[in-house]
Amino acid sequence: MSRTRPPREEPPVLEEWYRRHLAPGLHDISSSGVHPYTFAEIRDLCGLTAGDLDAIVMDDSVSQGGAGVRQAIADRYAGGDADRVLVTHGSSEAIALTLHALLRPGDRVVVQQGIYHSLGHYPRETGCEVAELPAAAVRDGEIDEDVLERLVTPGTRAVVVNFPHNPTGATLSPRGLKALTERTTAARATLVWDAATAEITHRWDVLPDPAATDPSTVSYGTFSKTFGLPGLRVGWAIAPPELITASFPLRDRTTLFLSPLVELIAEHAMRHADVLIGTRAAEARRNLAHLVDWMAEHEEWVRWTPPEGGVCALPVFRELERAGTGPAAVERLCLDLLSRHRTLLVPGTAFGAPHGARLGFGGPEEDFRAGLAGLSEFLRTRGAAR
Ligand SMILES: Cc1ncc(COP(=O)(O)O)c(C=O)c1O
Repeated sequence: MSRTRPPREEPPVLEEWYRRHLAPGLHDISSSGVHPYTFAEIRDLCGLTAGDLDAIVMDDSVSQGGAGVRQAIADRYAGGDADRVLVTHGSSEAIALTLHALLRPGDRVVVQQGIYHSLGHYPRETGCEVAELPAAAVRDGEIDEDVLERLVTPGTRAVVVNFPHNPTGATLSPRGLKALTERTTAARATLVWDAATAEITHRWDVLPDPAATDPSTVSYGTFSKTFGLPGLRVGWAIAPPELITASFPLRDRTTLFLSPLVELIAEHAMRHADVLIGTRAAEARRNLAHLVDWMAEHEEWVRWTPPEGGVCALPVFRELERAGTGPAAVERLCLDLLSRHRTLLVPGTAFGAPHGARLGFGGPEEDFRAGLAGLSEFLRTRGAAR
């Protein structure tokens, strides 16, 4: 007889979906990141030589991250202050470590609606009093002033947001960010800012990392999204040094540190961020222009708010919305699309949006267009059958 006990909780819908359905040979138009580089491309674009790789000593690194990669991240995002940088296995680990160190049961925490699963998970799991920032309160780059005032009250421990938001692509304007930071400062709350796709924007300029100027802010970044290096598994937090120190007890008992091999690649990638991000951002913008036309042609079946940043959006299927279907319907729709057209979306149930799906436009142009063509045919056939 198995001695395994029933699990205490379900895995996140998003990761379970990919575990079950992501496979080679699909038109993957589901991702929140740009398509990945090959290692040959990285070596070429980042000036990484065989000699650099051969010189790596496969020694231990250190818990906060090796000095080279930490400095490279600090120079780009933290005004050069490497003491405030923690380098981790993806930003997932940065989120887990820093929220674990920051939050206590009973803390009041404001969390954006439909936020990336781990950002919402840790406040709930810790037993915080969670207040939701409604998605509808973010419009034209600003958070509704009254909502902000009502939610971010003195005594609030943290405000956890992700802009550009995965999956809607909603983001803040410079004015909207200023209003948010003024409010969190006035309430003495910690701003927890996930900047996973900060450097691809469509409406306003790229926002500065708020942690660069406010040393009490916690921000997250990653090589997985705009850099096109999800398989590197490197992310970071910029955080007050005392919070980083408070994360060591957990880190020292779990992953300890990154490999010096991975850190060297990450350091080179960070020093060549403009070319890595710029190349993929240009392609994503061409895809977005095509998507805007595609949405107009298909408005009978789908509606959307065009993304203001990042490389994904959350179109809503009118048919499901009209019928007020529950979570199973959109998952079934995505599974049908996958089996008939080898085209992958992520059902909105992964983000609390039961009538929509995440559609990513960071893929290779030809494949992206093939995926959209599959979705077109699927929607037309489905429409005709009803
Ligand atoms: C908003 C956001 N934050 C964090 C992550 C975690 O990414 P990683 O652990 O690959 O850095 C993701 C991944 O999808 C994300 O979308």
